[in-house]
Amino acid sequence: MKRCLLLCFLCVLPLCLFNGWSTSLRVNPSAVSSSRNVTVLLWHYPFNRSASLKGDMCWDLYRIPHCRLVDQRSMFSSADVVVFHNRELIQRRQKLPTYWPRPQGQRWAWMSLEAPNHNGNLHQFANIFNMTMTYRRDADITVPYGELLPKEDEELLGEDNLQEKTSLVCWVVSNYRRHHKRSKVYTELNAIVPVKVYGRWTKTPLASSALLPTISRCYFYLAFENALSKDYITEKLWRNAYQGGAVPVVLGAPLSDYKAVAPPHSFIHVDEFASVREMAKYLQELAEDKKRYAEYLTWKQHWKVKLYADWRERLCKICPQFNSLPQHKVYSDLEAWVDAKNTSA
Ligand SMILES: *[C@@H]1O[C@H](CO)[C@@H](O)[C@H](O)[C@H]1NC(C)=O
Ligand SMILES: *[C@@H]1O[C@H](CO)[C@@H](O)[C@H](O)[C@H]1NC(C)=O
Ligand SMILES: *[C@@H]1O[C@H](CO)[C@@H](O)[C@H](O)[C@H]1NC(C)=O
Repeated sequence: MKRCLLLCFLCVLPLCLFNGWSTSLRVNPSAVSSSRNVTVLLWHYPFNRSASLKGDMCWDLYRIPHCRLVDQRSMFSSADVVVFHNRELIQRRQKLPTYWPRPQGQRWAWMSLEAPNHNGNLHQFANIFNMTMTYRRDADITVPYGELLPKEDEELLGEDNLQEKTSLVCWVVSNYRRHHKRSKVYTELNAIVPVKVYGRWTKTPLASSALLPTISRCYFYLAFENALSKDYITEKLWRNAYQGGAVPVVLGAPLSDYKAVAPPHSFIHVDEFASVREMAKYLQELAEDKKRYAEYLTWKQHWKVKLYADWRERLCKICPQFNSLPQHKVYSDLEAWVDAKNTSA
């Protein structure tokens, strides 16, 4: 009986892995670029950090063809897309060029990687933008903090050495706020099982070179987001947990959002448990059962982590999708779009 169950499980698992969540990662096949260059004008640099756009940059760095990324405002009249990063607009360091007639067919893109509560008042931007660029799956151009890509056959699987794990649960936190849900879950969890905490809050900051090696010594990593917003899944999952080699315990976006972008059995969502006590018990049991624990790392046989850190790569992503953008679209109420609750699956 047991063997039969195991066999069934082994047969069904690959089906889940390759059908369910991964379909959402496929690129739109109709996004075939024409031979003409798409010109993307970045109106101002995010956080005032400029970067070189010399040569055929999108091709040279990211193998994205027919894409011309420019930062000279004199190119305004010939730009297909003009991109505005929200932060500088709401801080009033930069202004929209509403004083210039907008060329026929030109699209203005609103770009932000912040959770809704950090985007400021967006009512002022009603009826201005034609496109959104955010981490959300329903943005016109989705620019996530990271994603998983299928692994090529020849890539070797790094061994996770479970012997070197010394802490059950670890957390890195700089911006601790008592009212955050994540702080409440942490406090409750820490009362049941020890949670090793690093970061500015406990005055034990980790140098960036020490971050992943430290996390690798933990069975579980609390990839707790500071906002519980639709699709808001940051490098805490992709980099800290997945690349660090600890199993992520996640809190933030709803479980269905995580399921859409991460393989089953690669993370543990706080909402999967009726109580923090039950979750604590589950974590303890897993850490004691090496075989069951290792099942949470098998996704690495098929997937590798891709992080997005360079704004240029995000901007180059516009070009392959340019031809599949709607012919006409206006965000008549950007604020409402940004604040959207999780209504779409
Ligand atoms: C942006 O950076 C440039 C040079 O690096 C500086 O001259 C300029 O004042 C900065 N602008 C803002 C708004 O911080
Ligand atoms: C497209 O843009 C790239 C990068 O600026 C440039 O090198 C290339 O010559 C352009 N191609 C066409 C057909 O305009
Ligand atoms: C972009 O938005 C502007 C302002 O609402 C609108 O006039 C224009 O038709 C839109 N363009 C496209 C291509 O959707």
